Amino acid sequence: MAILNVENVSKSFGGIQALDDCTFTVRADEVTCVVGPNGAGKTSVFNVITGFIKPDNGTIKFDGQIIDGLSRQSRVHLGIARTFQNLRLFEEMSVLDNVLVCLKGREATNPATAIFRPFYTSAVMKDKRERAMALLEEVGIAHKANDEASMMSYGQKKLLSIARILATDARLLLLDEPTSGLSASALDNMVALIHRLRDLGKTLLVVEHNTRIVQRIADEVLFLHRGTVLAQGRPDEIINNKELGRIYFGEVH
Ligand SMILES: Nc1ncnc2c1ncn2[C@@H]1O[C@H](COP(=O)(O)OP(=O)(O)OP(=O)(O)O)[C@@H](O)[C@H]1O
Ligand SMILES: [Mg+2]
Repeated sequence: MAILNVENVSKSFGGIQALDDCTFTVRADEVTCVVGPNGAGKTSVFNVITGFIKPDNGTIKFDGQIIDGLSRQSRVHLGIARTFQNLRLFEEMSVLDNVLVCLKGREATNPATAIFRPFYTSAVMKDKRERAMALLEEVGIAHKANDEASMMSYGQKKLLSIARILATDARLLLLDEPTSGLSASALDNMVALIHRLRDLGKTLLVVEHNTRIVQRIADEVLFLHRGTVLAQGRPDEIINNKELGRIYFGEVH
């Protein structure tokens, strides 16, 4: 069943057509990889889905509901969360706090509640800390909980960025190049995490450049070129398509 429908979405920046009549669907509970040459529009697709840019034309539906015009925050509440190519962590905060601030849940930290209902506040805070720790365990960095985020390796920061979007409880996760720049072992970790998230019932849309990784994680592949979906299909069909290969490696313009 489709959880996301992107229909005829276009977006231009001055003379640059970042998205051009872009249409595709994402099936629930699957991993869909977005591939395509640099500048193909992959991040722009994430930006229109998450409300970071407003398309010039077209419609986007999440779980059957039209989400055009909704704020970024409302989209997160509905269940759409993303990571960024440049991560955007709170570098000077602890690893645990980075997750705590993203946790969905009851508000217990306003001053009146904290003063007049201290036991309630402390119970909510304890519960939140436990949930944040569980998420750090899920992504494999619980041992770093009290370290400052800036102290972590790049691979660990990428895992933290995923713990943060899991904290929102979103069902659709958009990961922008989660494996880029990772060492071989960190890369295997990330692939295993993506498999676990899928098993947990998440739907994932993942920008991925490495075709070997695409083959390991994707149920479905979207090939973007010049802001348009040139092809959508099973990983083998897309990766072994010679014409698409030539476009990907820049021989056809
Ligand atoms: N905010 C913006 N202002 C101006 N141009 C933009 C903006 N965002 C994207 N573009 C342009 O739109 C096109 C698509 O960019 P986008 O970042 O979506 O590509 P991409 O497929 O994610 O590329 P990469 O693989 O390099 O990350 C590019 O030509 C880019 O320069
Ligand atoms: Mg990009």
